[in-house]
Amino acid sequence: MREFIEFAVHLADLAGEQILPRFRVAIGLENKSKDGGFDPVTVADREAEAAIRREIRRVYPDHGILGEEHGLTAGTSSYTWVIDPIDGTRAFVLGQLHWGTLIALNDGTAPIVGIMRQPYTGETFIGSTAGTELRRGNSTTRLSVRATSRLADVTVCATDPTMFAGPAHQQAFQRLAPRARAVRFGGDCYTPCLVAAGCADLVVEAGLKTWDVQALIPIVQGAGGVITDWRGGPAERAGEVIIAGNRELHAEVVAALAWPLVPG
Ligand code: IPD
Ligand code: CA
Repeated sequence: MREFIEFAVHLADLAGEQILPRFRVAIGLENKSKDGGFDPVTVADREAEAAIRREIRRVYPDHGILGEEHGLTAGTSSYTWVIDPIDGTRAFVLGQLHWGTLIALNDGTAPIVGIMRQPYTGETFIGSTAGTELRRGNSTTRLSVRATSRLADVTVCATDPTMFAGPAHQQAFQRLAPRARAVRFGGDCYTPCLVAAGCADLVVEAGLKTWDVQALIPIVQGAGGVITDWRGGPAERAGEVIIAGNRELHAEVVAALAWPLVPG
């Protein structure tokens, strides 16, 4: 496990070398959206993922690789690396800080290591069955969630209101949001790490892809948090996801969302 964790941190270093020189610099972007929305990708996303893939192929040629920008390369072992080189590209292209490199190692049943690296702030969140830690410079801090357990006492964090645009999602979010203390939009992969750090309590997302969630699972669970889909089932399949600091809060959120209200 330790070997895989340090290798994942090394992969995040390689990604940062590609990303940082292109941050807050005019590099241009391509809009990947096919439905008139805004889903940007940049040379930083593509080059960071390419650098990660080259290194995995060199060190673990039998491992599979699934990345947002360059797809799936099947391996011959049960291990697959699941990569989002920049999660939060919309924030990245604005020069905002809520983005990061997500790297997970899935052993064929579940993600066993998850890394979120924000190279500009120099933070690396590392999750595994050994727990969750935050490395920054020479300091390493063990992370754990906090105990706020009532929905009425927490802020619901979600990345983008447009992900609740369809009637079913909108209604579910409206069943939840008024019962919380406040709602805060923005955050991408950063806010789930703040739940792990005990700074935030609740993230509710929709429309996530597997590379958006795999790395977050060990980070959240290793800190004692709960990460599931909106029904309380496994989060690996992505889509609708809840990240909560504790079981009591999580149960209240599942009940409030009542997803889907009409089974189907
Ligand atoms: C996005 C982030 C965001 C989610 C979007 C994703 P990207 O990933 O995960 O939090 O709401 O659905 O597309 O495109 O910045 O890698
Ligand atoms: Ca991405």
